[in-house]
Amino acid sequence: MSVTASAPGKVILFGEHAVVYGEPAIAGAIDKRIYVTVEARQDDKVEVLSGAELNDGYPYVLKACERVFAYLGRSSGLTIRIRSEFPPASGLGSSAAVTVATIAAVSELLEGSIPKKEIADLAHKVEQDVQGAASITDTAVSAYGGILYVKPDLGVVEPLPNKNIQLVVGYTGKPGSTTEIVRTVKTLRNQHPEVVDNIIHCIGRITMLAKENLGNDLGGLMDLNNGLLEALGVGTFELSALIYGARASGAKGAKITGAGGGGCMIAYAPGREDAVSKVVEKGGCLAMLVNLGAEGVRIE
Ligand code: PMV
Repeated sequence: MSVTASAPGKVILFGEHAVVYGEPAIAGAIDKRIYVTVEARQDDKVEVLSGAELNDGYPYVLKACERVFAYLGRSSGLTIRIRSEFPPASGLGSSAAVTVATIAAVSELLEGSIPKKEIADLAHKVEQDVQGAASITDTAVSAYGGILYVKPDLGVVEPLPNKNIQLVVGYTGKPGSTTEIVRTVKTLRNQHPEVVDNIIHCIGRITMLAKENLGNDLGGLMDLNNGLLEALGVGTFELSALIYGARASGAKGAKITGAGGGGCMIAYAPGREDAVSKVVEKGGCLAMLVNLGAEGVRIE
Protein backbone atom coordinates (compact mmCIF):
# COMPACT_ATOMS: atom_id res chain seq x y z
CA MET A 1 0.00 0.00 0.00
CA SER A 2 1.19 3.56 -0.66
CA VAL A 3 0.04 6.94 0.61
CA THR A 4 0.61 10.33 -1.08
CA ALA A 5 0.43 13.63 0.80
CA SER A 6 1.06 17.08 -0.59
CA ALA A 7 1.86 20.45 0.96
CA PRO A 8 2.13 23.93 -0.57
CA GLY A 9 5.10 26.24 -0.92
CA LYS A 10 4.85 29.81 0.32
CA VAL A 11 5.69 33.42 -0.39
CA ILE A 12 6.28 36.07 2.23
CA LEU A 13 4.07 39.06 1.37
CA PHE A 14 5.36 41.39 4.08
CA GLY A 15 7.79 41.45 6.96
CA GLU A 16 10.77 39.25 6.08
CA HIS A 17 13.90 40.09 8.08
CA ALA A 18 11.91 42.37 10.43
CA VAL A 19 10.25 39.18 11.70
CA VAL A 20 13.65 38.03 12.99
CA TYR A 21 13.55 41.03 15.38
CA GLY A 22 10.05 40.49 16.76
CA GLU A 23 7.96 42.26 14.09
CA PRO A 24 5.07 40.41 12.44
CA ALA A 25 5.03 38.95 8.92
CA ILE A 26 2.36 37.92 6.45
CA ALA A 27 2.93 34.81 4.34
CA GLY A 28 0.66 32.92 1.99
CA ALA A 29 0.49 29.35 0.70
CA ILE A 30 0.88 29.13 -3.09
CA ASP A 31 -0.83 26.72 -5.46
CA LYS A 32 2.47 24.99 -6.20
CA ARG A 33 2.93 21.88 -4.13
CA ILE A 34 5.36 19.14 -3.19
CA TYR A 35 4.02 15.57 -3.36
CA VAL A 36 5.46 12.85 -1.15
CA THR A 37 4.51 9.21 -1.74
CA VAL A 38 5.46 6.63 0.90
CA GLU A 39 5.31 2.87 0.64
CA ALA A 40 6.11 0.30 3.33
CA ARG A 41 8.91 -2.17 2.60
CA GLN A 42 10.03 -5.49 4.07
CA ASP A 43 13.38 -4.33 5.50
CA ASP A 44 13.80 -1.42 7.93
CA LYS A 45 15.54 0.99 5.54
CA VAL A 46 14.22 4.41 4.60
CA GLU A 47 15.03 5.08 0.94
CA VAL A 48 14.33 8.44 -0.71
CA LEU A 49 13.89 8.59 -4.49
CA SER A 50 13.62 11.94 -6.23
CA GLY A 51 15.09 14.00 -9.04
CA ALA A 52 18.67 15.14 -8.39
CA GLU A 53 17.40 18.71 -8.04
CA LEU A 54 15.58 17.71 -4.87
CA ASN A 55 18.61 16.21 -3.10
CA ASP A 56 18.53 19.08 -0.64
CA GLY A 57 15.31 17.65 0.78
CA TYR A 58 16.81 14.32 1.95
CA PRO A 59 17.84 15.37 5.47
CA TYR A 60 14.39 16.88 6.04
CA VAL A 61 12.63 13.74 4.83
CA LEU A 62 14.78 11.44 6.98
CA LYS A 63 14.37 13.60 10.11
CA ALA A 64 10.63 13.87 9.46
CA CYS A 65 10.38 10.06 9.43
CA GLU A 66 12.34 9.83 12.70
CA ARG A 67 10.07 12.42 14.34
CA VAL A 68 6.90 10.60 13.23
CA PHE A 69 8.24 7.22 14.39
CA ALA A 70 9.04 8.71 17.82
CA TYR A 71 5.66 10.50 18.00
CA LEU A 72 3.64 7.38 17.15
CA GLY A 73 5.92 4.93 18.96
CA ARG A 74 6.18 2.65 15.90
CA SER A 75 8.22 2.59 12.70
CA SER A 76 8.52 0.96 9.29
CA GLY A 77 10.97 0.61 6.43
CA LEU A 78 9.89 3.04 3.71
CA THR A 79 10.39 3.88 0.07
CA ILE A 80 9.70 7.58 -0.41
CA ARG A 81 9.17 9.38 -3.72
CA ILE A 82 9.18 13.17 -4.00
CA ARG A 83 7.82 15.38 -6.78
CA SER A 84 7.85 19.16 -6.69
CA GLU A 85 5.99 21.79 -8.71
CA PHE A 86 8.48 24.55 -7.80
CA PRO A 87 12.27 24.88 -7.59
CA PRO A 88 14.05 23.99 -4.32
CA ALA A 89 16.24 26.45 -2.40
CA SER A 90 14.48 29.39 -4.09
CA GLY A 91 12.92 30.88 -0.94
CA LEU A 92 9.53 29.33 -1.75
CA GLY A 93 9.58 27.04 1.26
CA SER A 94 10.48 23.71 -0.34
CA SER A 95 12.11 22.32 2.81
CA ALA A 96 9.01 23.08 4.90
CA ALA A 97 6.67 21.66 2.26
CA VAL A 98 8.64 18.43 1.87
CA THR A 99 8.83 18.06 5.66
CA VAL A 100 5.12 18.69 6.24
CA ALA A 101 4.05 16.37 3.40
CA THR A 102 6.39 13.61 4.63
CA ILE A 103 5.00 13.81 8.16
CA ALA A 104 1.42 13.60 6.87
CA ALA A 105 2.13 10.72 4.48
CA VAL A 106 4.16 8.62 6.91
CA SER A 107 1.71 9.06 9.79
CA GLU A 108 -1.22 8.18 7.51
CA LEU A 109 0.60 5.05 6.29
CA LEU A 110 1.23 4.00 9.89
CA GLU A 111 -2.45 4.64 10.64
CA GLY A 112 -1.74 7.38 13.10
CA SER A 113 -2.88 10.44 11.17
CA ILE A 114 -1.73 13.56 13.06
CA PRO A 115 -3.76 16.81 13.38
CA LYS A 116 -2.47 19.88 11.47
CA LYS A 117 -1.32 21.67 14.61
CA GLU A 118 0.85 18.68 15.56
CA ILE A 119 2.13 18.39 11.98
CA ALA A 120 3.14 22.09 12.05
CA ASP A 121 4.90 21.62 15.43
CA LEU A 122 6.72 18.44 14.39
CA ALA A 123 7.76 20.01 11.07
CA HIS A 124 9.16 23.05 12.89
CA LYS A 125 11.21 20.71 15.10
CA VAL A 126 12.52 18.92 11.99
CA GLU A 127 13.63 22.28 10.48
CA GLN A 128 15.38 23.07 13.76
CA ASP A 129 17.04 19.61 13.77
CA VAL A 130 18.36 20.10 10.23
CA GLN A 131 19.13 23.84 10.17
CA GLY A 132 19.96 24.49 13.80
CA ALA A 133 17.41 27.34 13.90
CA ALA A 134 14.17 28.00 12.04
CA SER A 135 11.14 30.27 12.27
CA ILE A 136 7.65 28.78 12.49
CA THR A 137 6.51 30.70 9.40
CA ASP A 138 7.19 28.29 6.54
CA THR A 139 6.07 25.14 8.32
CA ALA A 140 2.88 26.82 9.62
CA VAL A 141 1.93 28.08 6.14
CA SER A 142 2.65 24.70 4.60
CA ALA A 143 0.58 22.85 7.20
CA TYR A 144 -2.42 25.20 7.52
CA GLY A 145 -2.43 26.81 4.06
CA GLY A 146 -4.24 30.11 3.47
CA ILE A 147 -2.70 33.49 4.25
CA LEU A 148 -1.23 33.79 7.73
CA TYR A 149 -0.23 36.68 9.96
CA VAL A 150 2.61 35.41 12.14
CA LYS A 151 4.54 36.69 15.10
CA PRO A 152 6.97 33.83 15.62
CA ASP A 153 8.45 35.13 18.91
CA LEU A 154 4.98 34.91 20.51
CA GLY A 155 3.90 31.80 18.60
CA VAL A 156 1.04 33.79 17.01
CA VAL A 157 -0.40 32.31 13.81
CA GLU A 158 -3.58 34.03 12.64
CA PRO A 159 -5.40 33.25 9.38
CA LEU A 160 -6.32 36.30 7.25
CA PRO A 161 -9.27 36.52 4.85
CA ASN A 162 -8.43 35.10 1.44
CA LYS A 163 -8.78 37.89 -1.14
CA ASN A 164 -7.99 35.73 -4.22
CA ILE A 165 -4.67 37.45 -4.73
CA GLN A 166 -2.70 36.39 -7.78
CA LEU A 167 1.02 37.15 -8.00
CA VAL A 168 3.78 36.69 -10.50
CA VAL A 169 6.82 35.10 -8.87
CA GLY A 170 10.14 35.75 -10.58
CA TYR A 171 12.95 33.37 -9.65
CA THR A 172 16.46 34.70 -10.35
CA GLY A 173 17.78 31.15 -10.59
CA LYS A 174 20.31 32.02 -7.89
CA PRO A 175 19.50 30.51 -4.52
CA GLY A 176 20.26 32.95 -1.70
CA SER A 177 21.57 31.64 1.62
CA THR A 178 19.03 32.71 4.24
CA THR A 179 21.51 32.17 7.09
CA GLU A 180 24.14 34.35 5.43
CA ILE A 181 21.74 37.16 4.56
CA VAL A 182 20.19 37.19 8.04
CA ARG A 183 23.76 37.57 9.33
CA THR A 184 24.45 40.49 6.95
CA VAL A 185 21.40 42.34 8.31
CA LYS A 186 22.56 41.64 11.87
CA THR A 187 25.97 43.13 11.10
CA LEU A 188 24.36 46.25 9.64
CA ARG A 189 22.15 46.53 12.72
CA ASN A 190 25.17 46.31 15.01
CA GLN A 191 26.85 49.08 12.97
CA HIS A 192 23.88 51.45 12.89
CA PRO A 193 21.43 50.24 15.53
CA GLU A 194 19.23 53.33 15.61
CA VAL A 195 18.76 53.59 11.87
CA VAL A 196 18.28 49.86 11.31
CA ASP A 197 15.88 49.48 14.24
CA ASN A 198 13.75 52.24 12.73
CA ILE A 199 13.72 50.48 9.37
CA ILE A 200 12.72 47.21 11.05
CA HIS A 201 9.97 48.96 12.98
CA CYS A 202 8.71 50.63 9.79
CA ILE A 203 8.51 47.25 8.04
CA GLY A 204 6.44 46.03 11.00
CA ARG A 205 4.06 49.01 10.55
CA ILE A 206 3.63 48.15 6.87
CA THR A 207 2.79 44.55 7.77
CA MET A 208 0.22 45.72 10.32
CA LEU A 209 -1.39 48.07 7.78
CA ALA A 210 -1.57 45.23 5.28
CA LYS A 211 -3.11 42.97 7.91
CA GLU A 212 -5.95 45.42 8.54
CA ASN A 213 -6.98 45.28 4.89
CA LEU A 214 -5.00 43.10 2.51
CA GLY A 215 -6.96 44.45 -0.47
CA ASN A 216 -6.15 48.10 0.24
CA ASP A 217 -3.13 49.41 -1.69
CA LEU A 218 -1.43 46.02 -1.69
CA GLY A 219 0.94 47.13 -4.47
CA GLY A 220 1.88 50.39 -2.78
CA LEU A 221 2.67 48.65 0.48
CA MET A 222 4.76 46.06 -1.37
CA ASP A 223 6.79 48.86 -2.99
CA LEU A 224 7.30 50.55 0.39
CA ASN A 225 8.38 47.27 1.97
CA ASN A 226 10.80 46.66 -0.88
CA GLY A 227 12.45 50.05 -0.44
CA LEU A 228 13.14 49.19 3.18
CA LEU A 229 14.47 45.74 2.28
CA GLU A 230 16.85 47.48 -0.13
CA ALA A 231 17.92 49.72 2.74
CA LEU A 232 18.74 46.59 4.74
CA GLY A 233 21.04 45.52 1.90
CA VAL A 234 19.30 42.30 0.89
CA GLY A 235 18.61 43.32 -2.73
CA THR A 236 20.63 42.25 -5.74
CA PHE A 237 21.07 43.56 -9.26
CA GLU A 238 18.99 40.67 -10.68
CA LEU A 239 16.15 41.14 -8.18
CA SER A 240 16.04 44.88 -8.84
CA ALA A 241 16.02 44.32 -12.61
CA LEU A 242 12.97 42.05 -12.23
CA ILE A 243 11.25 44.42 -9.79
CA TYR A 244 11.73 47.53 -11.96
CA GLY A 245 10.86 45.51 -15.07
CA ALA A 246 7.62 44.32 -13.44
CA ARG A 247 6.65 47.85 -12.43
CA ALA A 248 7.41 49.17 -15.93
CA SER A 249 5.15 46.41 -17.31
CA GLY A 250 2.19 47.57 -15.26
CA ALA A 251 2.61 45.85 -11.88
CA LYS A 252 0.95 47.81 -9.06
CA GLY A 253 3.77 46.75 -6.77
CA ALA A 254 6.74 44.41 -6.63
CA LYS A 255 9.17 43.30 -3.96
CA ILE A 256 11.76 40.81 -2.89
CA THR A 257 10.13 37.83 -1.16
CA GLY A 258 12.01 35.81 1.44
CA ALA A 259 15.60 36.42 2.44
CA GLY A 260 16.79 38.10 -0.78
CA GLY A 261 20.42 37.99 -1.96
CA GLY A 262 19.02 35.97 -4.90
CA GLY A 263 15.92 33.82 -4.71
CA CYS A 264 12.61 35.33 -5.74
CA MET A 265 10.64 38.54 -6.20
CA ILE A 266 6.86 38.85 -6.35
CA ALA A 267 4.76 41.26 -8.41
CA TYR A 268 1.11 42.20 -7.92
CA ALA A 269 -0.13 43.01 -11.40
CA PRO A 270 -3.88 42.48 -11.78
CA GLY A 271 -4.68 42.19 -15.51
CA ARG A 272 -0.98 42.60 -16.43
CA GLU A 273 0.29 39.18 -15.32
CA ASP A 274 1.23 38.11 -18.85
CA ALA A 275 3.26 41.27 -19.51
CA VAL A 276 5.07 40.91 -16.18
CA SER A 277 5.76 37.20 -16.76
CA LYS A 278 7.23 38.04 -20.17
CA VAL A 279 9.56 40.66 -18.75
CA VAL A 280 10.74 38.18 -16.09
CA GLU A 281 11.42 35.56 -18.75
CA LYS A 282 13.14 38.10 -20.98
CA GLY A 283 15.52 38.67 -18.08
CA GLY A 284 16.42 34.95 -18.29
CA CYS A 285 14.48 34.13 -15.11
CA LEU A 286 11.66 31.74 -14.29
CA ALA A 287 8.17 33.27 -14.06
CA MET A 288 5.42 31.48 -12.12
CA LEU A 289 1.85 32.67 -11.79
CA VAL A 290 0.62 31.75 -8.30
CA ASN A 291 -2.65 32.09 -6.43
CA LEU A 292 -2.32 32.89 -2.73
CA GLY A 293 -4.23 31.08 -0.03
CA ALA A 294 -3.87 27.50 -1.30
CA GLU A 295 -4.99 24.56 0.82
CA GLY A 296 -2.54 23.33 3.43
CA VAL A 297 -1.28 19.78 3.80
CA ARG A 298 -3.60 17.08 2.52
CA ILE A 299 -3.71 13.39 1.79
CA GLU A 300 -4.17 12.89 -1.96
O1 PMV B 1 14.43 32.42 2.67
P1 PMV B 1 13.03 32.36 3.15
O2 PMV B 1 12.01 32.56 2.08
O3 PMV B 1 12.74 31.17 4.00
O4 PMV B 1 12.78 33.64 4.07
C1 PMV B 1 13.51 33.92 5.19
C2 PMV B 1 12.78 34.97 5.96
C3 PMV B 1 13.65 35.70 6.97
O5 PMV B 1 12.79 36.63 7.63
C4 PMV B 1 14.74 36.47 6.27
C5 PMV B 1 14.27 34.76 7.98
C6 PMV B 1 13.29 34.12 8.95
O6 PMV B 1 13.70 33.11 9.55
O7 PMV B 1 12.18 34.60 9.14
